[in-house]
Amino acid sequence: MSRTRTAILAALALVAGATGTAYTALPAAAAAASIPCTVDYTVQNQWDTGFTAAVTITNNAAAKSSWSVKWSYAGNQKVTSYWNSKITQSGTAVTANNESYNGTIATGGSVSFGFNGSYSGTNAVPTAFTLDGVTCNVDDGSGGGGGGGTGGGGGSDGRVDNPYEGAQVYVNPEWSAKAAAEPGGSRVSNQPTGVWLDRIAAIDGVNGGMGLRDHLDAALAQKGGNEEVVQLVVYDLPGRDCAALASNGELGPTEIDKYKTQFIDPIATILADPKYASLRIVTTIEIDSLPNLVTNTGSRATATANCDTMLANGNYVKGVGYALAKLGAIPNVYNYLDAGHHGWLGWDDNFAPAANVFKQAATSEGATVDDVAGFITNTANYSALKENNFTVNDTVNGTSVRQSKWVDWNRYVDEQSFAQAFRTELVSVGFNANIGMLIDTSRNGWGGTARPTGPGATTSVDTYVDGGRYDRRIHIGNWCNQSGAGLGERPQAAPAAGIDAYVWMKPPGESDGSSTAIANDEGKGFDRMCDPTYTGNARNGNNLSGALPNAPLSGHWFSAQFQQLMQNAYPPLS
Ligand code: BGC
Repeated sequence: MSRTRTAILAALALVAGATGTAYTALPAAAAAASIPCTVDYTVQNQWDTGFTAAVTITNNAAAKSSWSVKWSYAGNQKVTSYWNSKITQSGTAVTANNESYNGTIATGGSVSFGFNGSYSGTNAVPTAFTLDGVTCNVDDGSGGGGGGGTGGGGGSDGRVDNPYEGAQVYVNPEWSAKAAAEPGGSRVSNQPTGVWLDRIAAIDGVNGGMGLRDHLDAALAQKGGNEEVVQLVVYDLPGRDCAALASNGELGPTEIDKYKTQFIDPIATILADPKYASLRIVTTIEIDSLPNLVTNTGSRATATANCDTMLANGNYVKGVGYALAKLGAIPNVYNYLDAGHHGWLGWDDNFAPAANVFKQAATSEGATVDDVAGFITNTANYSALKENNFTVNDTVNGTSVRQSKWVDWNRYVDEQSFAQAFRTELVSVGFNANIGMLIDTSRNGWGGTARPTGPGATTSVDTYVDGGRYDRRIHIGNWCNQSGAGLGERPQAAPAAGIDAYVWMKPPGESDGSSTAIANDEGKGFDRMCDPTYTGNARNGNNLSGALPNAPLSGHWFSAQFQQLMQNAYPPLS
């Protein structure tokens, strides 16, 4: 369903060079160069009442520091939302002006933007465009050619229901190399893991590492003739990680504008590049933030001043709404909102309130529930996937396991049952019925010699639960570099009802936080939950942290942890 009008660009046929990689313009290019500008207007996707279009302007005249493109519609098309330009419409006349961050176009350079529109009848492509008042390409009547293909197929908006189904998933070469360099690491180094955009600098690449475009280019190369999912983690909210310090971010609590213009907008520009339209881009949106607003604020014993600030100023909700709207407007992006895990939101006090906050965020800053493909649970956490040794309905000597110290009145004793139930709750508050869940199984394996082989003794609910539970943490609120953890289920599509995929969003072997304070320029603090000698706080019931010693900064390679994760993998590594 790709309709395109390339006009002048169509005449500028490009032919593959002898190597098949170099591209050479035919002589027609010389004629095109004398035209001040070309506009490529492509309808990328169209359904009965609406469409998505991508526009690329190429400037052949003097360099510009701002621009304004105009066209008129022959029909009743109306632009309804847009990205990477500010679009206004008066009757049939449309004006697209540059955003603050993409006003510059060098001679020979180009800029792309996109929009959604409504229409009825025929959605004819406009035939004339001006750039700063100068007429650009003239319709050559050829009807254009090539370009602008969209990925996927399936859903009426071009998205498939479950992006993982029938697709391979991008293997991050940087993580893969670190894993492969470990003894025994080649057993898992070809697994797909998340690419974390954890600060503005990560968009271009930190310390010579790969930036977002590098990853997307590498994904295109891996794709071959297959469908390919790329997994991104969007993680840089103002006042990030308000209940912990290990991943305190670079942006202060009030820096919402910087978040929008210097983080989300540039990411959206890259993801909207038609070059990447054939990839299925999965985003994990802002882990921990919205759950923190529910559980770590107000009169709760677990409240922190920083979380109260973020609740009061609204910048988590606004930031998430903006990210959803901006990224959700790109037809091949699938947004998954982070939804904590069962040991966080599984209590009655948290379950429904969390679903309501997600709905609030997903309907703010221009976002709608249609911008949400699903939710991800257990990101970078350690909650066991399926507990076979007891259920939440079991009793011991007439006492419910919900009264055990470990379960502590939670409704859920494992991650998968929580994810499925939370999906139902989310649909009941207004999310689409076809949302799917992801579960991060990177480090929830709990295999090895300490794995219980059957239920615990029925002396009391505590002996029963503690003797049987796979999750060997000291307390379910512990989250940093947990001692005894193993790799969990390998990434796979559609493993259970309502679950789009098991994923390794947290790259195994990357630390959750340093065991002692380490100076850095990454916005990382020192959280004592990563110190094995720390005796805890209200959020882990004042227990020992259970963290491995000698850990580096969050995100840095932690060889000893990676070795333990492989050793305790469940299912075991062969
Ligand atoms: C860190 C990020 C890192 C990510 C994945 C987070 O805890 O803050 O910097 O990229 O983990 O390892």
